[in-house]
Amino acid sequence: MESPIRKKMLQAFSESDGEFVSGQALADFLGCTRTAVWKHIEELRREGFELEAVRRKGYRILHAPDKVTENEIRYGLNTKNLGQTIYYQESIDSTQKKAHQLAYDNCPEGTLVIAEEQTSGRGRMTRSWHSPKYSGIWMSIILRPNLPPQQAPQFTLLAAVAVVQALEEVCGLNPEIKWPNDILINGKKVTGILTELQAESDKINSIIIGIGMNVNSKQEDFPEELQKIATSVAIEKGKIVSRSSIIQKILEKLELYYHLYMEKGFGPIKLLWEGYAISIGREIIARTITGTIEGKAIGITNDGVLKIEDSSGRIHEIYSADIEIQGNS
Ligand code: BTN
Repeated sequence: MESPIRKKMLQAFSESDGEFVSGQALADFLGCTRTAVWKHIEELRREGFELEAVRRKGYRILHAPDKVTENEIRYGLNTKNLGQTIYYQESIDSTQKKAHQLAYDNCPEGTLVIAEEQTSGRGRMTRSWHSPKYSGIWMSIILRPNLPPQQAPQFTLLAAVAVVQALEEVCGLNPEIKWPNDILINGKKVTGILTELQAESDKINSIIIGIGMNVNSKQEDFPEELQKIATSVAIEKGKIVSRSSIIQKILEKLELYYHLYMEKGFGPIKLLWEGYAISIGREIIARTITGTIEGKAIGITNDGVLKIEDSSGRIHEIYSADIEIQGNS
């Protein structure tokens, strides 16, 4: 984790909104000498920040590099808790695995684990998750709601709404959600969400929300088996996009909807989710661990469970499955 002084320094730049902050003001705010300020400025430059220094005016940030280091994410982050503690590693086996360890060791709620690459990224249903260096967002967030474990699946839907809105607002895209947790653009998967739990029989200890988003990958960067089914933000947008801006917006939206959920329950989240869902009202095939069910997706329950009506009129409630929408790939 990084020095608390640099964390405060980025907060000062963030609050100055692109204006100069004098060396003395920084030294006073940080409670250190001007030489120490200068050293931290140099450290930011080494990380790729472009800083302008003008005599009698001070310093200002002209450009923050598109890495996903703690500094990048913190600069301009507008949350109270989510992402206020960041664990960053350039390369990691899986952010989800690390988040489990940190959660077990009692890290603060809202801790974000993030990496430039994952060497053993995990997807749902024991699949692997392709996570190459610098081209995507590979992150896990730890929440500790005081709730029974049965409510945890609702957090997958909550996270999906946060991701969709972040992509709408930062990138001007119109993603859709395929139950429960795939985010698609033009029918191809751009993001997957993996929600995992540490819980006792009646109480959640931690929810770990893993988000994997293909951001700046080109179509040919995907392995052959993903070429037809995966896309990236850059492919859909036609240009490279700042990963840290998307991460900040996801954290802000997650925080907003997490508070809404804790205050008002799942109802408002369910409504939002339904507005983005493509599977509802469609003929689908659901492949679960125990078998395959075909029928019409007629909605989700108040717990976020998918309801399918088969041809005999029987209603099935599906907790976890791979969904194929008929007529789509
Ligand atoms: C899915 O199968 O659709 C879910 C994919 C989730 C991938 C993310 S990437 C960050 C986090 N760390 C992991 O190992 N997996 C999740």
